[in-house]
Amino acid sequence: MDEGGYHEPVLLEEVLELLAPRGAGIFLDGTVGGGGHARALLERCPDCRLLALDRDPDALERAARELAPFGERVLLRPGRFHDAVELFGLLGPVLSGALLDLGVSSAQLDRDTRGFAFRRGVPLDMRMEGASGRGPSGADFLNEADEVELAQIFREYGEEPRWRRLAREVVKRRGTRPFVDSDDLVGALAGALGRAPSNQEKARAFQALRIVVNRELEFLEAALPRIREALAPGGRLAVISYHSLEDRIVKNAFREWSRSCVCPPELPICVCRGVPLGTTLTTKPIRPGADEVRRNPRARSALLRGWRRAA
Ligand SMILES: C[S@@+](CC[C@H](N)C(=O)[O-])C[C@H]1O[C@@H](n2cnc3c(N)ncnc32)[C@H](O)[C@@H]1O
Repeated sequence: MDEGGYHEPVLLEEVLELLAPRGAGIFLDGTVGGGGHARALLERCPDCRLLALDRDPDALERAARELAPFGERVLLRPGRFHDAVELFGLLGPVLSGALLDLGVSSAQLDRDTRGFAFRRGVPLDMRMEGASGRGPSGADFLNEADEVELAQIFREYGEEPRWRRLAREVVKRRGTRPFVDSDDLVGALAGALGRAPSNQEKARAFQALRIVVNRELEFLEAALPRIREALAPGGRLAVISYHSLEDRIVKNAFREWSRSCVCPPELPICVCRGVPLGTTLTTKPIRPGADEVRRNPRARSALLRGWRRAA
């Protein structure tokens, strides 16, 4: 993809339909990336304003260029979406809508110098904030985590059937030479499988490491209720997930918020809030159609869900 086509926004029309931007609404884009969804929202709604953030400084720079024509209608901040309320000083329920388009962008994958994908010889950094990011890099994690922890991430986040072997192989290899770059991880995978791994197997192992390095699931869980509380009555939240673990977190949160009673079943009477906090707008996740997947193969795993706060 060239500079102009930094990242084709996934499920764009469907996101706009769920968020229904209109009037002088204030929207949050918690994963602004290259600004594709953001730009479309601002074009669709000429009086809306946008608070946008991203944890990747490169993405933010691109978003700043992309969204410059909208001037003061856009406020951009570096940071993570679970901190959005503090970063923008949101006082109370002010948002008309919010979008989280999870995972990594095409730019992060295409111009990859941080080891997000299995390109040869790239340092295994994987921190979305870049090397200045807090916390261990992908290589640090492989060099330091114990075998049980490694096995758990390859099983849960990578869905690797040979998770136990892969964890053992990583521990064995790092005993003679520390993990440094993408080839080292591919080598360990080949060692565990006893053959050259397929692209899909490589992608799953890299994904597992990326998820743990960036604490992606933990931040998503923390962010959802905070963003919900920042929604104005009738405000909408749309989330695009790219794998089942993310989608399960979103699905369960929306389901729970849409129930009137969340008391444990053994209680004889309801003592909780007793009313739903809002309504799930998507009983099933919205997926891209065949045309979109043909145009943008990275959209193929996208799952979009929406929720509306009670009016
Ligand atoms: C799929 S891209 C978003 C693309 C964007 N919707 C567009 O149209 O260009 C995901 C972006 O989310 C960012 N990101 C991932 N997790 C984040 C988090 N916890 N907080 C803030 N940004 C995050 C990534 O750095 C990446 O730029």
